[in-house]
Amino acid sequence: MALFITGGAGFIGSAFIRTWIERYPAETVINFDKLTYAGNLDNVAEAARHPTYRFIHGDICDAEALRAAIPDGCDAIVHFAAESHVDRSILSAREFILTNVLGTQVLLDVAREKGVRRFLHISTDEVGGSLPEGRFFREDDPLVPSSPYAASKAAAEHLVRAAAHTFGLDAVITRTSNNYGPYQFPEKLIPLALTNALENRPIPVYGDGQQVRDWIHVDDNCAALRVVLEKGQPGATYHIGGRSPLPNRTVLLTLLDLLGKPASLLTEVADRLGHDRRYAVDCSRIERELGWRPQIPFVEGLAQTIAWYREHPTWVARARSGEYRQYYARMYGAL
Ligand code: NAD
Ligand code: TYD
Repeated sequence: MALFITGGAGFIGSAFIRTWIERYPAETVINFDKLTYAGNLDNVAEAARHPTYRFIHGDICDAEALRAAIPDGCDAIVHFAAESHVDRSILSAREFILTNVLGTQVLLDVAREKGVRRFLHISTDEVGGSLPEGRFFREDDPLVPSSPYAASKAAAEHLVRAAAHTFGLDAVITRTSNNYGPYQFPEKLIPLALTNALENRPIPVYGDGQQVRDWIHVDDNCAALRVVLEKGQPGATYHIGGRSPLPNRTVLLTLLDLLGKPASLLTEVADRLGHDRRYAVDCSRIERELGWRPQIPFVEGLAQTIAWYREHPTWVARARSGEYRQYYARMYGAL
């Protein structure tokens, strides 16, 4: 299967590439990435040594670049590329609309032109908005996003469904809950808290810290994505959850406990604007129809993640200082 991956230098895309190559070493994998602040080629350094892997520097908003990059006979596009951080979308939504909305449409158009056989669109549980205790977001529920990030991802999904409905594109959509694991950029809760704690620096807790997220290890997510890519019904949407719903404060106290660091590092700060209180996906469809289930218990996955960050101080230092971007600037020109 020849795969065209967008956003494969980011956190989840790079994990998908690593785990795909491990299983299917003979198959072509093209990683098309703009290398924004979140794209880090250090994440795919091992894949780069593999003969069937190729990296192409490009923007999904650029139709010409996509036409040149997507190979004839491409079996599938796996579309990870996005602006992905809620706090940044609150500061400025512009890049979110460009990449997540316009970029997705451009990619859909070129995918059709090129006759790509399957389009796997990576979405998020955040399109379902904040849910009261006891309610779960199901695949057929209406989308009620509340942050600019979530709104841009909801718009992208609508465009994917419209392409499937109007043009018969074989598209499948996944909505995953909060991922954690190695190589996650230290702006999201777990890697930010972990890297701060390792240096005994304070950990910002937004508001009362009782917001609930369902945590899934990135390797469990990648296993689910492979199953959906290979066996998902055309036009279907699948929720992927970790079955580990936890308030932020509990996540942070567990992390500090595993690290042997004091709870006094937790520092309440002003709440995020419009902060969604609770996300909760019902992931019974993928479990029932495709036989996937999360395998990595949260505390075990968190301990593995801690070990990885401890063992990779150079990756952490380069990610935090932005040094990895200077290296790209030499390779690909100014970013
Ligand atoms: P990330 O921010 O780590 O990586 C995004 C990647 O996309 C980067 O490599 C970046 O350079 C690339 N990119 C950005 N704009 C681009 C453009 N215009 N053209 C080409 N490449 C571009 O994100 P992530 O956490 O790996 O998330 C991947 C996908 O999964 C996103 O679509 C995100 O919305 C979705 N998702 C993430 C989570 C999570 O917990 N991280 C949960 C649910 C869904
Ligand atoms: P985040 O990792 O940004 O993911 P998302 O907002 O997409 O769920 O944040 C996870 C939760 O942690 C969210 O409720 C916001 C909160 N949070 C903090 O309390 N402090 C922080 O420094 C960050 C980055 C997030």
